[in-house]
Amino acid sequence: MKNSKLKKALVLIGAGILSVGMLGGCAPKATPTPEGNTGAQAAEETPAGGAGEFIVMGTNAEFEPFEYRDGAEIVGFDVEIAKAIAEKAGKELKIEDMAFDTLIVGLNNKQMDFIAAGMSVTEDRKTQVDFSNPYFTSKQMIIVKADDTSIQTADDLVGKKVGVQLGTTGDLFVSGTEGVEVVQFDKAPLAVMDLKNGKVDAVVIDAEPAKRLVEGQNDIKVLDAPFTEEEYAIAVRKGDTELLNTINTVIEELKQSGKYDEIYGKFFGAAE
Ligand code: ARG
Repeated sequence: MKNSKLKKALVLIGAGILSVGMLGGCAPKATPTPEGNTGAQAAEETPAGGAGEFIVMGTNAEFEPFEYRDGAEIVGFDVEIAKAIAEKAGKELKIEDMAFDTLIVGLNNKQMDFIAAGMSVTEDRKTQVDFSNPYFTSKQMIIVKADDTSIQTADDLVGKKVGVQLGTTGDLFVSGTEGVEVVQFDKAPLAVMDLKNGKVDAVVIDAEPAKRLVEGQNDIKVLDAPFTEEEYAIAVRKGDTELLNTINTVIEELKQSGKYDEIYGKFFGAAE
């Protein structure tokens, strides 16, 4: 039931993005970006897939421990994987930090070469980008006030105000569930702030970031019951098989060499 609604939501949102985004690897029309740049300009600076000295990772650095700011620097699990990709490609890594819901359009406008943003593979996104092999398994979790007894599972979200990050799978799930009032935020930490202020009743977000957001805070908690299992993968423009192959090789090599476990340990504690 919920799943079919979720699918419907995915299809609807996909239709919206498709009308703006580009599908192929050909030169895009100059589409204005929020910064007032055009895709064409960005393409000049970062010859995606070409012989430029940089390779550009697009992300939304509001998703600890996958990507977040440590002072001026953007760090995290995904950044470590991106560094390995850059090394393999013989290029220097550059990171574009932008709103999560603009990443796919940005990729197709050649503002970046790939997206590494804890991005879950969905059927709809697969129509707009090519995904690497998955590199991480995740699920959606619910954060509530520590003393809340009215919300125990996803079903209890009906009739509640639920905060999500715009354009995420959490957003798609909640927006596609009848009877739930969804409140969309640019960044998940803002949703959590409103939960603490009593402006929303719950926040739906991926498991690891959920853990980080409640860490050290005794007025909020993550519910035990997860829902929807998802897989994170890296996205490239459709048809960019050369880069996709490089990325898949890197993921495989990281796993084989034990480097993946090392990075895992660095951001999640002991390897599974
Ligand atoms: N996994 C979710 C999705 O793909 C959320 C990802 C949010 N990532 C971020 N960097 N803010 O929709």
